[in-house]
Amino acid sequence: MEAGRLLTERLLDEFIPSDNDDPQLLHRAMRYSVMAGGKRLRPILAQAAYEYCGGTSEGAAGTIHKAMPAIEMVHTYSLIHDDLPCMDDDDLRRGMPTCHKKFDEATATLAGDALHVIAFELMAQTGSIDVVLELARAVGTSGMLGGQMADIEAEGRPVTAEEIQAIHRRKTGALIRGSVRVGAILAAADSATLARLTDYGEKIGLAFQIIDDILDIEGDQKLLGKSVGSDTRHQKATYPAAMGLEESRRQAANLIDGALATFVEEEDNMLKWLARYIGQRER
Ligand code: IPE
Ligand code: IPE
Ligand code: MG
Ligand code: MG
Ligand code: MG
Repeated sequence: MEAGRLLTERLLDEFIPSDNDDPQLLHRAMRYSVMAGGKRLRPILAQAAYEYCGGTSEGAAGTIHKAMPAIEMVHTYSLIHDDLPCMDDDDLRRGMPTCHKKFDEATATLAGDALHVIAFELMAQTGSIDVVLELARAVGTSGMLGGQMADIEAEGRPVTAEEIQAIHRRKTGALIRGSVRVGAILAAADSATLARLTDYGEKIGLAFQIIDDILDIEGDQKLLGKSVGSDTRHQKATYPAAMGLEESRRQAANLIDGALATFVEEEDNMLKWLARYIGQRER
């Protein structure tokens, strides 16, 4: 994971304009949020899927090495906007003041927008229309953005288990599933493998957000780098609120087991390792 993180950070540094290029304030804000750290889980998943599907290192520079920073830019854009006062109104992200706290709301909004656009510019440079579509659909109104809208609409009222699952699958699951699929598609995975990895991505994606909800209650703020208790404060629809901590833990563990079952009787690989990591993460 460390190698994937370092590679992602090198690529992000390469593709985000320098602080000295105009508009300097915008580039500063983009770099501030992107380079603040973070697990880089989504690009690492994309890379792991690419390698699992036989993607070569010769082909990587023009394909997966464009998609990895693109995916992390989309993710960071979603965090910048998610933290805005009009959304989750959070002050701490990746152990630092949120983008709108460090700069201002207008700059944070534009930094998110700009990261979103550069991401698609990079995706286009892979030369694969399929992965551009894949990311667009993961982020769009039936994916992350639809989930974010539903998340806001569900604030302050009780939700059913079906509703909370539908919110989490979209707001967080879609980009994680999409990251796995982008890696597989760039490696020209056959349709059976792509279907298996899609199922894997759906399961770890939903588990990831259930665990995010759990950590908002019992996590350590220092490790997480964001404020705990934010969901309770905003009366968010979460798994623990809908079904309690115990049942939330059980469902997350079942999803991870299900994801691992994708690789039954196969030797260990990075995708398996990442599923276990998601199941046990504390940050
Ligand atoms: C946080 O994502 C937002 C969610 C979708 C739950 P991460 O937990 O992956 O955040 P970073 O990238 O490591 O900061
Ligand atoms: C975030 O969900 C989902 C997206 C950013 C798309 P949360 O609102 O729970 O994420 P955190 O807890 O602020 O990281
Ligand atoms: Mg949110
Ligand atoms: Mg939030
Ligand atoms: Mg959260």
